[in-house]
Order: sequence, then C-alpha cells, then structure tokens
Amino acid sequence: MMPRTGENFRIDGARLWDSIMEMARIGPGVAGGNNRQTLTDADAEGRALFRTWCEAAGLTLGVDAMGTMFATRPGEDPDALPVYVGSHLDTQPTGGKYDGVLGVLGALEAVRSMNDLGIRTKHPIVVTNWTNEEGARFAPAMLASGVFAGVIDLDYAYGRTDLDGLSFGEELERIGWKGDEEVGARRMHAYYELHIEQGPILEAEEKEIGVVTHCQGLWWLEFTLTGKEAHTGSTPMPMRVNAGLAMARIFEMVQEVATGEQPNAVGGVGQVKFAPNSRNVLPGKVVFTVDIRSPEQEKLDRMRAEIEKRATTICEVLGVGCAVEPVGHFDPVTFAPDLVATVRGAAEKLGYSHRDIISGAGHDACWAAKVAPATMVMCPCVDGLSHNEAEEITPDWAEKGANVLFHAVLETAGV
Ligand code: GLV
Ligand code: MN
Ligand code: MN
Ligand code: MN
Repeated sequence: MMPRTGENFRIDGARLWDSIMEMARIGPGVAGGNNRQTLTDADAEGRALFRTWCEAAGLTLGVDAMGTMFATRPGEDPDALPVYVGSHLDTQPTGGKYDGVLGVLGALEAVRSMNDLGIRTKHPIVVTNWTNEEGARFAPAMLASGVFAGVIDLDYAYGRTDLDGLSFGEELERIGWKGDEEVGARRMHAYYELHIEQGPILEAEEKEIGVVTHCQGLWWLEFTLTGKEAHTGSTPMPMRVNAGLAMARIFEMVQEVATGEQPNAVGGVGQVKFAPNSRNVLPGKVVFTVDIRSPEQEKLDRMRAEIEKRATTICEVLGVGCAVEPVGHFDPVTFAPDLVATVRGAAEKLGYSHRDIISGAGHDACWAAKVAPATMVMCPCVDGLSHNEAEEITPDWAEKGANVLFHAVLETAGV
C-alpha cells in the first residue's frame, strides 16, 4: 500500500532540466553562462517567463514592493501558514546557469509534480523568487530578503546605486516589477531553499546531497581611499600619494589576516574601481569591497577589527585618506534543527548519499531564518565552481536535490 507521505513520489527531472535550460537562454553570458543581473531587461524577461510557468501551474502571483515574486498553491487548511520554497533568478555578471535558478525552478517543479500526482497539502506552498540575491549590481547581497526579514530598511534598499549611479528604486520601477504588497507582511510556516553547493566538498566526497546545518556569516567592507591624481611619468616617487599602492597593501594584508584565522575563515576582494582609471594617472580615488566570512562569530568580528586597524596604518604611512563603510553583513546562521532533520530524513528515505554541510555562500534562507524555521538542501557542482560561467551540475544531481526538496516540503506542508 502507498504510504501516506508517498515514498514513491518523484519529481520530473527531465522537465526540471528543460526549464533550467530555457531560463538560461535569457540573458546569455559571454562564455556559456548567464548575465541576468538584477533589475536589468534580462531580469524582467526571466521574471515574465517564470510568471508564465507559475500561471500554467495554477499558482496565484503576488509581488511585493521590492519586486519579490510569491506564487501560491493553496492548501487545504485555510488557517495554515504557507511553506515558502525559493531562491533567486538574478545572476552575477559572469554567472552560471544554476546558482539560484535551481532553487526557484526546483520549487516550481515540486508544485508541478504535486499537481501531476494529485497531491493536496494542508499548508499552502509559495514558490518564491527573491529580488537581488547576488548583490553584484546593488550591494548588499540578499537585499530583498533582508528587507523582508526587517533587517534592511526599505528606503536604504531603494537608494542603493550601481556603478553607473542608477538606483535600485528607479530600476525596479523601470522594469515594471515594483509590486503593491508591503514587504515583510507575509508570515511563513517554514522556508526551504535548494541550491548548488558552490564549493568542492560534496563532489569530492561523492555525496549527492548536502544537508545544510549552518551558513557562515559575512562582512562586506567598502573602502574609499583618497590619493592625489598625478602624472605617472613626471611625479617623483617620494612625492606620490598613491591610493593604488595602499589598495595593493590592503589586499595583501586581508590575505594574511584570513590565512591567520584558519580554519573556517576566508577573505578577499572582488570589486575595484579606480578613478580616473587612466593608464598614466595615479588614481585620486580607489573604491573596493573586502568580503570576509566565517561560521564563527568571534573570528568574523576579530577579522573585521584587525583589517580596519591595519588598513588605517597602511594608509597613514602613505598619506592616503581611508574611509570604510560596511555595505553587507549577516551573522553566522544556525538553521532550524527540525527542518534540517526533515531534509536528512528525506535524503535517507530516498536512498541518496548525504552529509551535513555549512554553506560558504550567503543565501536568502539566511534572512528567512530570522522570521521562520528555515533550512536548505544542497547538491554538488562540478569542480566546486560557481560565480563563473563554466558553473556546471549534472541532471542527476539536480533531480536528486529537487526530490529531497519535494519530500521535505511535503512532510512540512502536511499531506
Ligand atoms: C551571494 O551570492 C554571496 O554569497 O555572496
Ligand atoms: Mn545563489
Ligand atoms: Mn550567487
Ligand atoms: Mn548567493
């Protein structure tokens, strides 16, 4: 006899894969991946495709004032709070096809499969596409989920600008996805997110599923260094006020600080802007963001203090002005133990190899965890590569990850 929770139920892996490939045609990158950065025309196109799919699956779409899309499948109990399941459709400028997309389309596939299998759940299910998870165009990352969770101010979010000076608020209106729902007004019974690992552990250990117990915390520190614009040929070495040199010394110092906190600590720089950025002008201004992370609160705070202190000294020695603004932060997260156990149990029941894992990357689940029991399911990615157009996974990994998500959601939503 079929057990009540439907142990034989499976999602449709081929349909999930086809949808991922169809989404990947929108906002193609330059090397086989995607450039579907948040609030661009490509993002709008991706959202429209996702809306079409949600409508075809019989879901009702709501959009909040941060542009986050919530597609609801009703539950049987009118008083039951929904189980939210989602991730993000925006990408890095040179992003992969799976980071975020797997989680949104895996959630969609779960409800498509519920429809096919005639499964009714007690709690509604809400498939969610959070706006600006990546933080590539507008810092910080996980911006809309941060506003939803009440940790980022809505007006602060609207005022964030990209490198061209365009604001988040203006761009959200321009692409036509500023919704009328108040941000954060929804209440969640639970939140699940499926994601690729974005690191090498699962593949190396030949594990099909990562049961995510924690997420490491982070600080993004935006440095603005002020030097003196001067001719690179005619300015004698002792007369230079070289903001670029200070930047180089700070990079080296960040490497030293993070290396000195091993294990469980990382630090680096991914974005730099030189002004005026001309070959024969010493930069008058250098802006860059240091990204430091650790699952240990103490280490995270110690790294931040050490980096700020040593950067001040480096700049003083060179006569360079130094201002630091935190533009992204969350503390290390412990995911809800009962949901984590549900994910582990689903992997076990399905006969998939699994291990517990700490997320190295930030996710919307980290902010959702502030307002609801939350956790994540991870699947491996080839060579641990992500935030790279060459990011790759296998259809089998995607299918298994989505099956674990499906069974965990069914258990929490009640069938
Ligand atoms: C978001 O993608 C992050 O972890 O930086
Ligand atoms: Mn992601
Ligand atoms: Mn990402
Ligand atoms: Mn991320």
